[in-house]
Amino acid sequence: MQKFNLPVNSLMRSTDFLYGVATSSFQIEGDRKGRDACIWDTFCAVPGNISDGTNGDDACKHIENWSEDVSLISSLGVDAYRLSISWPRVMTETGEVNELGMQFYINLVDELVSKNIKVFVTLYHWDLPQHLEDNGGWLNRDTAYAFEKYAGAVAKALGNKVHAYATLNEPFCSAYLGYEVGIHAPGLTGVSNGRKAAHHLLLAHGLAMTTLRKECPESLHGIVLNFSTCHAATSSDEDKAAAKRADEYHNQWYLKPVLEGKYPNIIHTLKEEDRPNIACGDMDIISQAVDYIGINFYTRTVYKAAPNNGFEVVEPTNVPLTAMGWEITPDAFTELLVDLHKQYTLPPIYITENGAAMEDSMVNGEVVDNDRIDYFQSHLHAVHDAIEHGVDIRGYFAWSLMDNFEWALGYSKRFGIVHVDYETQKRTLKHSAIAYAELVKNRINGTLAV
Ligand code: GCO
Repeated sequence: MQKFNLPVNSLMRSTDFLYGVATSSFQIEGDRKGRDACIWDTFCAVPGNISDGTNGDDACKHIENWSEDVSLISSLGVDAYRLSISWPRVMTETGEVNELGMQFYINLVDELVSKNIKVFVTLYHWDLPQHLEDNGGWLNRDTAYAFEKYAGAVAKALGNKVHAYATLNEPFCSAYLGYEVGIHAPGLTGVSNGRKAAHHLLLAHGLAMTTLRKECPESLHGIVLNFSTCHAATSSDEDKAAAKRADEYHNQWYLKPVLEGKYPNIIHTLKEEDRPNIACGDMDIISQAVDYIGINFYTRTVYKAAPNNGFEVVEPTNVPLTAMGWEITPDAFTELLVDLHKQYTLPPIYITENGAAMEDSMVNGEVVDNDRIDYFQSHLHAVHDAIEHGVDIRGYFAWSLMDNFEWALGYSKRFGIVHVDYETQKRTLKHSAIAYAELVKNRINGTLAV
């Protein structure tokens, strides 16, 4: 059976470096009846939005199977588990706490802690309550204040038992995919919508940070951002400039406000009506100190110049791809981490997501996913290389613990290291899960291959 290896003297072999697995509420929970509607329920109900016509009503039935799922996580021996809270499960439409929903997460966190697993909680992994969307969702500044209140309620309930809180997961996806190009919920379009949503999301992050710190002074508090490095299709000045614009628009738009209190320069090239409404004091709220930044990385993107100072994605050809059609680019991962380290004064970094959908097949009860093991192996080495270059990286979370609802692609893509049979809800460790468990267990005593 294929195994992972890490260099002997790697910091990633110490117990100070956390290994974890990650999931999110809408992607695994199911139990649609136990919570209010969210924007993804509404989005899934529109024919054509989800490639296989599915929704999150059942998903991995985690609400039913949570205790077995915690045992499964524990059996992997990982140090940490990253989960997200479903806002419409824990808050009612009138802004009260839904005690039953909140109790679910209290029990879950208690069980994880009792098994010595550090809990990383994400407050917003895209499942906005539908009633807030009905009032404008992230286009409405009030949503940021509703988020602050929700964050306070969760922090009160879960307290310092949570090792690390993250306000948002990938605001790029919420704002750009959801409000600017419309391929994610709520399916709106337009530059103005996208930029406005992004600003309110970042404001929500800043407002929640204050509350989280007050309620849970012992936990870590930060935000999770996704990055895809932007490469020029050719060495022409036009394409290089296009790649730089794409980087500012998709990556730096979210990081720079948090770390430096300002948007990247590309904001000045936008039409006046497309720019977000930035109220006095907003950038200070957004840029207060974070304890860590979570980085999600999957692949790089290649751009060429397009008319009107635009940039256009060039699809990869003749290169190894995952089942998502994403190019496998571990070097870009190191480059990203080292570049960010050079560009900013970074707080400690956790790799909060990294992984691959592959064309898995179950044969005689086994999933031999050596391609996924290769993907993890090369990306773990990329993280190691970044650490060698001085980047302060404290942990790595595999996306995902188990196969789950992959947003607009429904259940057609499998990212799990654990296989899920959606008919029976049976979980089966893929070879990647077995190898990951072994990596975590044997990282100290040097029995890993070099
Ligand atoms: C994201 C999300 C996850 C996805 C994963 C694979 O990064 O898009 O955090 O929910 O499932 O990234 O696309």
